[in-house]
Amino acid sequence: MSAVEAPPVRIGVVGAGFMGRQHIGFIHDAPGAALAAVADPVPTRDAFGCAAFATASDMIDGGGLDAVLIANPNVLHVDTAIECLEAGLAVLLEKPVAVDYAQSLRLVDAVARLNGRLLVGHHRRHHPAIARARAAVRDGELGRLVAVSGLWSARKEDEYFTGTPWHRSSGGGVMLINVVHDLDLLRHLCGEVAEIQALQSSHARGLEVEDTVSLSLRFDGGAVGSFLASDAGVSPWGWDQATEETPAFPFLPDGVAYRLVGTSAALSVPNLARYSYDPSVAADWHSPLSRTYLPVRPRGSFQAQLDHFVDVARGDVEPLVTAEDAAHTLALVEAAALAARTGRAVDVPQFRAAIEAAERR
Ligand SMILES: NC(=O)c1ccc[n+]([C@@H]2O[C@H](COP(=O)([O-])OP(=O)(O)OC[C@H]3O[C@@H](n4cnc5c(N)ncnc54)[C@H](O)[C@@H]3O)[C@@H](O)[C@H]2O)c1
Repeated sequence: MSAVEAPPVRIGVVGAGFMGRQHIGFIHDAPGAALAAVADPVPTRDAFGCAAFATASDMIDGGGLDAVLIANPNVLHVDTAIECLEAGLAVLLEKPVAVDYAQSLRLVDAVARLNGRLLVGHHRRHHPAIARARAAVRDGELGRLVAVSGLWSARKEDEYFTGTPWHRSSGGGVMLINVVHDLDLLRHLCGEVAEIQALQSSHARGLEVEDTVSLSLRFDGGAVGSFLASDAGVSPWGWDQATEETPAFPFLPDGVAYRLVGTSAALSVPNLARYSYDPSVAADWHSPLSRTYLPVRPRGSFQAQLDHFVDVARGDVEPLVTAEDAAHTLALVEAAALAARTGRAVDVPQFRAAIEAAERR
């Protein structure tokens, strides 16, 4: 039976808030998926056209599900995902996989123990430009990767901080809210990070929480990288401005979030402009540079993520973002925060190993 003829994967959504509702819209539009139920303790006047439950447990007991999409508060992610895996359901779990690396280890163990099918919702990885850029790095289209630089900066409205108290204190800053996405993509594109250094500042807003960070990275493969982020500075630079993914951000075509530099070519992402010297003459810094755009078929990341999840739920493919993979992104963000607090370089594998040893003792 072809994928088109297969019956749709029946999905229950846990958490019908800002993100859950968006996912419900994507499920309605996806031929391979069907919305079977919604679980949320807060009653809503919206009719989602399916069964409604107050808890994930009630929804599971109600039966008729193949898979669950979890978009409840972060603190509930691990317990909800384990409950669904134990019921034999495939899981698409919104990011972050857990509130911290220590907690995520419980989920990593559960996936292994139950042979579970679980995809973590780092949706940007499903953007066609990311798949193409990753292939360019892996297949040596840039030569050997030398370095990467990235930037995300946008000025959040003052009410973001006055209206939501936790945004003003540790954990609510640009590092955990925004940089987490970029570090995940940098790992995906350039490989595991061996070492990280960081500077952070709160001078622009004068709040307890950091508003601006500067990171230095060393990747396992030897490349080095830098990433600058601020939620206090106006800029056209960053993933959100360079893609049409988030309607709340202005879209600037041909925008750049990351610049990858290799020994034979450079690539900016997500506009996929590839720069190389003219091969017909000596290829060095005085040679003419040419620019070509790598072609990709446009596709929304969330829609592509859902299509992939349908395949994961059917057991046809391995998840692009496993619990372990997403846990490593979380550990890297924690390592960056530690580096910023202490002013010291953090050895990332050692940092993870210390947490694993403490948790699994
Ligand atoms: N991928 C992305 O870019 C992206 C963007 C925003 C949010 N998120 C993630 O999505 C998740 C939800 O965030 P949000 O912004 O939609 O938050 P939200 O507060 O708008 O929605 C959370 C929903 O969960 C419900 N809920 C609370 N306790 C529950 C329980 N025990 N069982 C079931 N539902 C429960 C709430 O009533 C609410 O409707 C978070 O993990 C967040 O990190 C991801």
